[in-house]
Amino acid sequence: MKKVIIVYESVYGNTKMIAESICVGMNKVEGVECGVKKTGELHTDDLCEFDAIVFGCPNHDQEPALNIIKFIDRASIVHLKAKIGAAFDTYTGGNKDVAVTKLKAKIQEKIPGIELIDTLSAKVKGRKGPLADNEESKALDFGARFAKRLIE
Ligand SMILES: Cc1cc2nc3c(=O)[nH]c(=O)nc-3n(C[C@H](O)[C@H](O)[C@H](O)COP(=O)(O)O)c2cc1C
Repeated sequence: MKKVIIVYESVYGNTKMIAESICVGMNKVEGVECGVKKTGELHTDDLCEFDAIVFGCPNHDQEPALNIIKFIDRASIVHLKAKIGAAFDTYTGGNKDVAVTKLKAKIQEKIPGIELIDTLSAKVKGRKGPLADNEESKALDFGARFAKRLIE
């Protein structure tokens, strides 16, 4: 069984919903077991037990939300088993991919042992949400696609 953890930050709950949909998509794939934790709910030492890690956060002022950056900084000193990962963000307006591109660069800088094989950017209709139509189903597909790659 391959174990995946999704670590996310969220203020209004939209990024949490995307994390949970990705997780549902992963758990549909036989041989993969996925869980979800907010940054404050998981000690970075506990990352050691996972075969893959997915990081997600909202776009805050064109940057990944601060708490996920702090989490990645803490994770950089842990000896990880995971060799692959993915990243996602949530955004409003025209800022698709802006935060996730920076998040990806941050992970690659701080945790170079993990290859990020996919990214997702999910739109919210306003600062507090709700999620734009279809974003949850895209997240489900994203999770299933990632899980299939993991067991290849
Ligand atoms: C302080 C703050 C700054 C934000 N700045 C941006 C921004 O520059 N670009 C953008 O697309 N969305 C921005 N947003 C909207 C967030 O992306 C949106 O609130 C988030 O996707 C919702 O996710 P959450 O429910 O998980 O918190 C900002 C939100 C907050 C609270």
